[in-house]
Amino acid sequence: MRSWRLSRTSTKSRSKAPAHIPFKEMSNAPAQPDTFLSNLEWRRAVKHFGAGPVDVEPVIRAATQAPSSFGLQPYRIVAVKDKATRERLQPACYGQSQVTECDTLLVFCARTDVTGRSEEFLKASGAEAVRGMLEGFVGNLQDQVAWASRQAYIALGFALAAAAELKIASCPMEGFVPAAVAQELALDSTLHPVVLLALGEPAEEDGTWPRFRFPESDLVRRV
Ligand SMILES: Cc1cc2nc3c(=O)[nH]c(=O)nc-3n(C[C@H](O)[C@H](O)[C@H](O)COP(=O)(O)O)c2cc1C
Repeated sequence: MRSWRLSRTSTKSRSKAPAHIPFKEMSNAPAQPDTFLSNLEWRRAVKHFGAGPVDVEPVIRAATQAPSSFGLQPYRIVAVKDKATRERLQPACYGQSQVTECDTLLVFCARTDVTGRSEEFLKASGAEAVRGMLEGFVGNLQDQVAWASRQAYIALGFALAAAAELKIASCPMEGFVPAAVAQELALDSTLHPVVLLALGEPAEEDGTWPRFRFPESDLVRRV
């Protein structure tokens, strides 16, 4: 089976891959050790972190490299390292231990100023040729916050995968009160917190919550 490895050699090895890989070769095979896939299988949504510091900058960078609809990246990530701020945030997160035990708490916020964001994008990217299409799309959006939130979750996925690759412990969290988090961080009214990501040093886990995945046959239909 082909393994995927995030390294400088990946482009080279990928160029040797057959043009067409039959579906059956990709399914249900155990991941090879020390690969992107095995690191994804290593990661858990942890409840506790070790006390040591971790470098979260590559994780943040990975999040900023996520694709988004029309490339608008309609979100902002607030990285909260300051312990006192995280202690104040904890009650807004139902007292979850990860908030204070982690090294850094990423707060993914959807931007509600999608019209302004698209203008900003057009100016900064110089993509005037797509103005009409973009304005039509934004003008027809039924729920701008829901749309912006979906883009923020793609960035969350990139951050989760990067953290796993770097063996940084993580926990995505929706268990919080958005308005209370926004107030504590004095967020601009155009920012709506949608999901958190606690990052820190791995620690011993009590194993209360099982690592469970439905089988691929339940999740994937191959045609
Ligand atoms: C969007 C999202 C929100 C979550 N919210 C919380 C949360 O508030 N608190 C928590 O302890 N775990 C939270 N989790 C973790 C899930 O319970 C966990 O990912 C799931 O049980 C699968 O376990 P695993 O990630 O360890 O494989 C969340 C996960 C996701 C993806």
